[in-house]
Amino acid sequence: MPDGWSTTGEMRVRLDTDPYLERYAARVRGMSASEIRALFAVAARPEVVSFAGGMPATSALDMEAVESVAARVIRDHGATALQYGGGQGRPELRALLAEVMHHEGVPCHADDLVITVGGQQALDLIARCFLDPGDIVLAEGPTYVGGIGAMTSNQAEVRHVPMDDDGMQVELLEEMIEQLAREGRRAKYVYTIPNHQNPAGVSMSVPRRHRLAELAELHDLMIVEDNPYGLLDFTGVTYPSIRQLVPERVVYVGTVSKIFAPGVRTGWVAAPRPIRDKLILLREAADLCPSNLTQMIVESWLTTQPWREQIKRFTEVYREKAEVMLGSLASEMPDGVHWTVPGGAFYIWLTVPRGIDTSDLLAKAIAQRVAYVPGRGFYADGSGGDQARLCFSYPEVSRIHEGVARLGELLHAELDLVRAVYGDDAPQFRPRHDGPAGGLGG
Ligand SMILES: Cc1ncc(COP(=O)(O)O)c(C=O)c1O
Repeated sequence: MPDGWSTTGEMRVRLDTDPYLERYAARVRGMSASEIRALFAVAARPEVVSFAGGMPATSALDMEAVESVAARVIRDHGATALQYGGGQGRPELRALLAEVMHHEGVPCHADDLVITVGGQQALDLIARCFLDPGDIVLAEGPTYVGGIGAMTSNQAEVRHVPMDDDGMQVELLEEMIEQLAREGRRAKYVYTIPNHQNPAGVSMSVPRRHRLAELAELHDLMIVEDNPYGLLDFTGVTYPSIRQLVPERVVYVGTVSKIFAPGVRTGWVAAPRPIRDKLILLREAADLCPSNLTQMIVESWLTTQPWREQIKRFTEVYREKAEVMLGSLASEMPDGVHWTVPGGAFYIWLTVPRGIDTSDLLAKAIAQRVAYVPGRGFYADGSGGDQARLCFSYPEVSRIHEGVARLGELLHAELDLVRAVYGDDAPQFRPRHDGPAGGLGG
């Protein structure tokens, strides 16, 4: 082995890029920041219309109300707000979040909850609670980048269950469960985002939810139900939560990030009691307790402000943005590009024709002053090269058309290039595989 190289399993890594490499725990060695992260720094420039970050429109909040809520916490309860608290989170907040869950029709008791630093910490604690190296998790493909990170950083293997416009294809999940059983293995849990999924924008149909619950009983499976977006619904269709159907088999994750503000970093887990107790111990090892200050700001928000109206206001903002983006996609995208039609929340999932790679295209897109997230980030197995996530929640309505038009122009030019290079052998202008964008939209 030449000097400066280290062999870690099959992987050969130059030690001079990181002289500490051999000292790291195995779970950390394979972690690296993607090149895409560097591009996103450029995408944050004001001239770029960014459909990249999944950020809520915090400008739609009544800032005077937020200011008075925060000021009141310090003025009236400063000593408590600035003190340590309990590992499970404040009972007052847990009672209020149970109300938020009831507002969405999800049954819950305040004692079932553990407050976390956003839904992301919940996903990490759950992964640490259940996963040993090499364990298998079954998750929608595509799925939330941070969910993949929580599972793979705990050295689990994520296998994807394909989706279509009705969410996870539960009949394929069943096949995968049976295949695993033939191998003498079993998934530790199924990770699903059933409502207005990140990144696909689609929701799991009601019959599939029932079937998923049945499969959980039949095959003795746990389900992690991640639900940041359920309340941001454009359609009025109500779906049962999986927790409602099989409460003893579900670890449910909620967050106030998308219904209030991500800056307060407040999420929660609702779990059967023995699991809840393990999660509290894990969270105490990680950070002792959630911040009393931000918990009390959320409490004050939920008790003194019309939070249901605020959610309606957010939803209206996102519905308008979604409509503008869908209209722009229909007028600007070349033939062969497909996309999902979201029933709520933030995301549209784009599938481009063969021959175009959305990771390769990103640098050009940013040069044209538009950004998106390439599809590969949403799969643990490297697929998704012909897909991309467009997030419409953050850019001003007035800039959405401009951004889509820039992307459309770029895709037209790329397709011309593919045709010029391949001539009669041009790859067929169709998606490479069935997926949530198949056949929908423009
Ligand atoms: C599906 C999903 N789960 C969890 C999270 C975590 O959000 P937070 O940690 O802000 O609650 C996000 C954030 O975008 C998400 O999209």
